[in-house]
Parts: sequence; structure tokens; C-alpha cells
Amino acid sequence: MCDPVILFNRRRELAGAVNEKVTIDRYGVMGYPVSHSRSPVIHRLFALQTGQEIRYELLQVAPEKLDTAIRQFQRTGGKGLNITVPHKHAVAKLVDQSSERASTAGAVNTIIFRGSELYGDNTDGIGLLRDLNVNLGVNLEYANILILGAGGATRGIVGPLLEMQPASLRIANRTPEKAQKLVDRFESLGPVTACGFDDVPASEPYDLIINATSAGLHGGTPPYPEAAVTENTFCYDLSYGLSPTPFSTWARDHGAAKSVMGWGMLVEQAAESFHLWRGVRPDTAPVLKQMNINA
Ligand code: ATR
Repeated sequence: MCDPVILFNRRRELAGAVNEKVTIDRYGVMGYPVSHSRSPVIHRLFALQTGQEIRYELLQVAPEKLDTAIRQFQRTGGKGLNITVPHKHAVAKLVDQSSERASTAGAVNTIIFRGSELYGDNTDGIGLLRDLNVNLGVNLEYANILILGAGGATRGIVGPLLEMQPASLRIANRTPEKAQKLVDRFESLGPVTACGFDDVPASEPYDLIINATSAGLHGGTPPYPEAAVTENTFCYDLSYGLSPTPFSTWARDHGAAKSVMGWGMLVEQAAESFHLWRGVRPDTAPVLKQMNINA
């Protein structure tokens, strides 16, 4: 006959198993606007590939509601967030702690919820470098690089690009003062200069031009510096779309050697975020292939 104490404990275990709710860890991307984001698709593919059970949501949040929305997501079972336009800089000030790369950038694209604390990181730079170096075979050492734009996206990539020891890195922006602020922040790391779009010297051909403005999101084509493009210039748009972005069309029209949209960076930075959250690194090659991008 079964011991009554063992029987009682067994009944309690069974009751517990019935009552226990299966909760799925929640993640998401917060931006404004955010409907264009392909992050949910990418994270779903990563989850399938690695056998991780997660939910990943699109979260459109206006700047004035950002703090409340992040805390609410955390309270309702959120485990982590991606942060996109235009919140990366604001979130760097909201988090309780951040990684060195996020602090240097002054921009956060990944939040990890640690108990009640918000930990901020930035995977944009490593994502861009992996795409340029590994996927596209672009050599950055001794390269002359021009970045268009001086917002949150630029903040995330200047430090990692300077680590690759380019010959020069110029930041050109519609508002030159904002580009100069970034130079003040990063000049101890390498040869970085600032100017307005009109002031990019015609005598300086670039090996790599990166569009980090958000102008394309609103369908616009600002007066990008035409003289900077030669038949040897590799043009990279941090924005991406199913049809060519305004910048990638502009680059092709001005005779760039190659014009690529930022799908690869998107997938690579997402893989780094996924690794931070789940401790598993997805293989990006099949995901890039599955999305049939920059083909
Ligand atoms: P992100 O996080 O994508 O960098 P952001 O911090 O809002 O977003 O920065 C947007 C960048 O795109 C800025 O460099 C902005 O230029 P300003 O600093 O002059 O505002 C640039 N940008 C946005 N719309 C633009 C447009 N129509 N023409 C030129 N630059 C534009």
C-alpha cells in the first residue's frame, strides 16, 4: 500500500501541474513609426531555427509615452525589447545600466529586463560590421568613409567603424551642429570630422558611403553630396525596403560600384540581440537567404 504522505505530495504535484500557466516570454520592437519593421519575421525565424518559444511584437509608441510603455511591457511579462527610430538616444537615458558600447554610442537598440532593472545594449555596430565584413567582403581598414546623418543610428556605428582603423570618417548632416557634437564625442577614438551636406569636399572620393538618415522613411531624398560617389564607391543604406530605397536608387543613379540596403545589418543586429536575450546564437545565413534580400 502507498504511503499516505507520498500520496498526498503526489496529489499536490499533480494539482500544481494543472494550475501552472504556460507563459511564453515576450519580446518586441518599439518605434514611431514601426509598421515597416521586419524584426518580428526575423525573430520568428530565429526562434524556429533554435527551438526557442518566444512571442515578438510590433509596438508603436510615441516619444512622450516611451517610459510608461517600456515599464508596462516589463510588468506584463516582457523579457526584452528592441528600440528603433526615433527612441534610441532617449532610451540610453532611461535605462538603469548599459554596456560599454551603448554608453559610448549614447544610444540603445536592445533592452534586457533584469528583475526590475533595465539593461541597455547596442548591437547596431556589430551588426553593420558583420554584414560589411563577413557577408559583403568590404574591407574597412584604410578606407575613406562618409556617413550621412547624425542621429541615433549614426551614434551606434561610429565607434565600431573607427575600431576598424579607417583612413578617415566624415559625418555629414542636414544640421551640421549635430554632426559636430558626434565628432566631439568620438574624436578620441579615431580620425572623424563633421560638415553639412553642401560642404562635403568634391575632391574627396569615398570608398564607403553609409546613409544613416531617416529621410527615406518619409519617402524623401535630401540633397546628398553627389561628388562623393565614384565608380569605386560602395553605398550602404541602413534603411531597407522591398523595393529600392530612395538612397539606394540615388547611389545607383550616381554610378556607385555597388548599392546595398541594410537587410544584412538588420538580421545581424537581431541575431546579436537574440543571443543576449536567449543565450543562443542563431545562424544568420539561412535567414538572409530565406528573406531573399539584396539578391
Ligand atoms: P535614427 O535613430 O534613425 O538615427 P534620429 O535620431 O531621429 O533617427 O535621426 C534622424 C537623422 O536623419 C538625423 O541625422 C536627421 O537630420 P537632422 O539632424 O538634421 O534632423 C536626418 N534626417 C531626417 N529626415 C531628413 C531629411 N528629410 N533630410 C535630411 N536629413 C534628414
